[in-house]
Order: sequence, then structure tokens, then C-alpha cells
Amino acid sequence: MDHARRAEELRTQLREASHRYYVLDAPTLSDAEYDRLFRELEQLEKDHPDLLTPDSPTQRVGAAPSEKFARVTHRHQMMSLANAMSSEDLDEFVERVHRLLGDEKVRWVMEPKLDGLAVTLTYEEGRFVQGATRGDGLVGEDVTQNLKTIKMIPLQLSHAPAGRFEVRGEVFINKRDFVRMNEEREKAGEPTFVNPRNSAAGALRQLDPRITAQRPLSIYFYEVGEAAPFATHWEKLQKLKNYGLRTNPENELLESVEAVRDKYRRLLEKRHDLPYEIDGTVVKVDSEDQRRRLGAVSRTPRWAIAWKFPAEEEATTVENIFVSVGRTGALTPVAELKPVYVGGVTVGRATLHNEDELRRKDVRVGDRVFLRRAGDVIPEIVRVIVEDRPPEGRPPFEMPKTCPVCGAPVHREPDEAVTRCTNLSCPAQLVGRLRHFAGRLAMDITGLGEETCIRLVQGGLVKTPADLYSVTREQWLSLERMGEKSVDNLLAALHASKKTSLRRFTYALGIRMVGEATALALARRFGSIQAMLDATLDDIQAVRDVGPIVGEQIFTFLQNPENRTAIGRLLAAGVAPEPEAAPAAAGAFAGKTVVLTGTLSRYTRDQAKAEIERRGGRVAGTVSRKTDFVVAGGDAGTKLKKAQELGVRVVDENGFADLLK
Ligand code: IVH
Repeated sequence: MDHARRAEELRTQLREASHRYYVLDAPTLSDAEYDRLFRELEQLEKDHPDLLTPDSPTQRVGAAPSEKFARVTHRHQMMSLANAMSSEDLDEFVERVHRLLGDEKVRWVMEPKLDGLAVTLTYEEGRFVQGATRGDGLVGEDVTQNLKTIKMIPLQLSHAPAGRFEVRGEVFINKRDFVRMNEEREKAGEPTFVNPRNSAAGALRQLDPRITAQRPLSIYFYEVGEAAPFATHWEKLQKLKNYGLRTNPENELLESVEAVRDKYRRLLEKRHDLPYEIDGTVVKVDSEDQRRRLGAVSRTPRWAIAWKFPAEEEATTVENIFVSVGRTGALTPVAELKPVYVGGVTVGRATLHNEDELRRKDVRVGDRVFLRRAGDVIPEIVRVIVEDRPPEGRPPFEMPKTCPVCGAPVHREPDEAVTRCTNLSCPAQLVGRLRHFAGRLAMDITGLGEETCIRLVQGGLVKTPADLYSVTREQWLSLERMGEKSVDNLLAALHASKKTSLRRFTYALGIRMVGEATALALARRFGSIQAMLDATLDDIQAVRDVGPIVGEQIFTFLQNPENRTAIGRLLAAGVAPEPEAAPAAAGAFAGKTVVLTGTLSRYTRDQAKAEIERRGGRVAGTVSRKTDFVVAGGDAGTKLKKAQELGVRVVDENGFADLLK
């Protein structure tokens, strides 16, 4: 047989073997046989380079590392799903579908909601030509070379549709592979990943495909790009599988809403037995014609919803309780836990907030507790498993009577929940104040982390933030773990921080109850630090967003002689806060209250907020009737829903970008 024929035969055999192994889960070749055929093909291609085709099974890890990913504009937008957090939310979704479709019968398809990364793959005449991440739904990153290393992605489809064909799926890592990978990383002294999703994302966004190839990535396919040439979603899923594109065997076609609920319960029960992480289910209308008529709102289809599972709870042990002291002297009890994986991350600590909270929950060292984490919320201890306490009991935790850091007496106002250290020069408070001062939203001094602040304070080099500017190069170098390079960077950052805005400066002062929004309002109203220092209590209380209580705090702070000296020293050190640009009096954002929700791809939250505020808008945290509009990024949830209910105007990321122009 001639070489070309043999090469083609080998490719076909290997492809079929992969298909049977990964897609049909019914292997026919042993691993050894597969390897033998694979090596034969490799040898043939080496001897006859003209026989090599780009879709050959040997070509998965061919490409060299790249500098950065090229951007890919999606031919068809990649939408995201609205969330249903409860059974009532599901009812609403179903009702809306029925309202829009009249009395038509609706069939449903339900799929596990994989917690991974959405990708879109383009095939041309059955050959894999390009793969991209979702990005913001409109533009993603070209990760073709990395996707090629995933063995369950066919480089050539069988019975492929002619022309261009775009298919979408989720890249993920199995739980077991994730654990194994972390064990190996730990042994090699490399940092471990917090959850399978992050490690999958990291692997897929590797510039060197050889590294991606070593990560155990999997994929399931669930949608296609173009207006589908299929009558139903179910048919589409069957076809994908025939082409060699893996679909989730848990997917099910369901005839009624009762069946949907039943499937949800079954998946919830099965959740921990599945080899991969899921955070809920996806409920989809089956008929493609009905889907077309239902359409989409901004970037979420009306024909599908992500019905999420409830927050996860896990049991773990409290190994210790310690008390941390913050910049205002507040004593916060913190539980140190035996690390536990819950709701998608590994958790080793949980705040117990304050004395009352600690009493209420009665958490004691050695207790078994339930830890809960809902979405991206801070993990919290739900309750102690009292049944697990030994018969002789355990001593309750007592808040210390003196500051655990400086030993000064602590004090708690009768009507306050917080206990505070009474020593204003307590090193812990000082460290906290320095950290706040240097923070990203304050003076933004990069390189001044917690460790460095502690060493500065311990070394007696700094007593107030102003001292930071007079620490000499030699003194910085004398600190542990400070090399030439980091000192130079830090000195540059300190120098750069002197040119700042009045808003940042005001926030950096660390006045109690003054967050960034209030700092901005003060900066706008007074225009200079001197005007702020000269302001009367009435002046301050009249500022937008400042009530009588906060006003009192601010006034007292600004009148305090020590604080006035500290401010004077900062100005003398060369810190020069620039007045805030007057907010635009006209334009889309002037005087408007805006709520940001979901993930934006082109802006961080801080950037989006800054852009809005520069244009005279205000960013609020919750949606109400007073909200002028909501900017909804990908995966927007309850806030978007609330806005729709209240009839508040919603814009997506593109709409937002247009308004900024
Ligand atoms: S369908 C418009 N099906 O969830 C429908 N998505 O917010 C497009 N996901 O970006 C998505 N499992 O990353 C669909 N079986 C599934 C899914 C799924 C996970 C992810 C996907 C998407 C996000 C939706």
C-alpha cells in the first residue's frame, strides 16, 4: 500500500478510536494498540513530511508559545444566561415563556450547568480551524492552539455539515483531575489552584500550548453558533454527538414543568457523585422555532435560564480563634478552620464579626461547624454542630480584656457592637492606617503590603502616614526582605503618589464612616483641603450623602489637633491633592444614579465607576425606583431582574461604551 493511503488509514483509525473512547465511552482499541498506530503515523509523517495534514492526530501540540492572544470577533454573539435562584424564579421564567407563546406545547431540555469556561469552535468543511473564549460575548481570545491539545476535541468531524460550522461548549477540569493536579503542584513546590474553574481558565489562557497539553482539560458541547439547521435542541445534541462532539450524558428531554422540577431534584442529589463541578442546571426550550420567536433581551435569551443550586454548606473544624485589630482599633474575632472546599473555593478562615455575633453562634475552639458560601459572598459559619461537642463540653471563647497587640485596655460603647483598642498609637491600628492610606483606592502606593507595614512599625520608622515620605533609602534597605529593586520601586511609587486627587486624599485619611463616595462628595463640595479644614459642622452636614452622624464624625476628625498636624505634615512632604474636576452638567450620566451588575469585559468595576463619576453620575449598590439605569454585564443576576421588574432602563456593555463616547 502506498504511504499516502496508509497515513490516511491510520488517521481515520485513530480518529475513530478517540471518538469511541471520548464521545461514545465505548473504546474498541486498547491503549497499547492506540499507541502503536499513533507511533506508526508519526514515523510515516516524519519520513514523508508532505503527508502531514494539520488535522492529523499527531498535530495537537505543534505550535510554539505566542506573545499574546489574538482577538476574535464572534460571528454570532455569545450570550449568557439569566439566573433563577429559587423555584419561584423558575415559575416566572416558565410563565413568561407560556405568555409569549400562547397555549403552544413546550418541551424542555435540561442540562447540568458546568462550572467552566465557555468557548466557541469553528469548523470548516469539518476541519477545526479556530477556537475562541467567550470574552465579553462579542470579542474573545483566539485559543485555537490550546484547544487543539484537548484530545476529546476532534480536529476533523465525522459526517460534518458542509461549509462553516460553529459549535459552543464548556471547557472544564474533572474534580479528581483537579485534586491530582494540585497534589503534583504541591510536591513540585508550585502554587495550587483554588478551584477547578480557575485551573481550567488558567490552562486555557496559557500562552504556551505545551503547558495546556499537560492539564487534564475536558469539554462538553451544548449549542451551535448560527441560526441552527435543526428543528429542536434535542436533535441538535444528537447530531453534535454523531459529528464526534461530546455532549453531556446527563442531558434530558422533558415533556412538562413537573418533569423539569423532578430532574432538578435528581441532579441536585447526584451533584456530588458527578465527576465534575456543577453549580446548577440549565433549562432550555427545545423547539428552535419557539426559541426564535422568544428572542433575547439585551444579551440573555428568553428561551433558557440557569436554575442554580442553593449555596453549599460543608462541615469543618474550628482549629483556633484569634482576634485581629483593625485600623480603627476594632477587635474582630476570626475563626481559623481546617481548610475545606465549599461553594467553589477552599476556605481556611471565617470572620465572626464581633463579640455579640460570636456569643450568638457560640463558636468554640475545637467545635465542628457548618460553613456556608453562597456565590461570591464571604464564607460564614452558619452554626455549630453542638451534637458533636464532647460530653465534658468546651470552654466558651472570651473576648480579651486588653488589646492582643499592644496590651492597652479595650472599650466597648454600650450601644455599639464593636470592641476597640483604646490606644491610638497601637501598632496594629497604625499598620491598619498605613495599609488603608496606601490602598488602591486611596494613595495607591503599590508595593507597600501588610508585611512591609508591620516591619516599618516594628522598626519604629513610621508613626503616621506622613512619615512614609521621609523614610530614607538606607532605612528601607535595612528592613527584612527589602532588596534594591523593591526599594527603588517603592520609592518611585511613593513619589508618584504625591500627585493625587483630593478625593483619594480625603479617603486615605481614614475618617471613620467615610467611604469613597463620601470622600468624593466632600472633595467636590470643598475643592481644597484647606476649605475642608475651615468648614463648620453645618457646612459638612449639608454635603450630599452626609447626614448628621457622619457629619459629626468628619467634623470632629478635622478639628482634632493631632489630625490637623498629620495633614499639615503630609502637605509639607509634598503631597498635593488636586481639586476634583467639576462633574459634567450635561451628558448621559450627569446627575444620574447608576447601578453596575454582572461582569464587564472591557472595564474593571473601579474603571467603570470612575468613568461614570467623571461624567457627574453616581454609582449605587442596589436597584430601586430612584435608579436611572443599570449597566448589565455578563452573568447579571438579581439586580438585572429587579431593574426589569421596576422598569428601570438597562444597558449592556456596548450600550454603556456608547454612552461614554
Ligand atoms: S447555554 C445562551 N448550556 O453558563 C445560552 N451554558 O451564563 C448559552 N454554561 O456562558 C449558554 N453549562 O459558560 C449553556 N449546559 C450549558 C451550560 C452553560 C454551563 C455556562 C456558559 C455560559 C454561562 C451562561
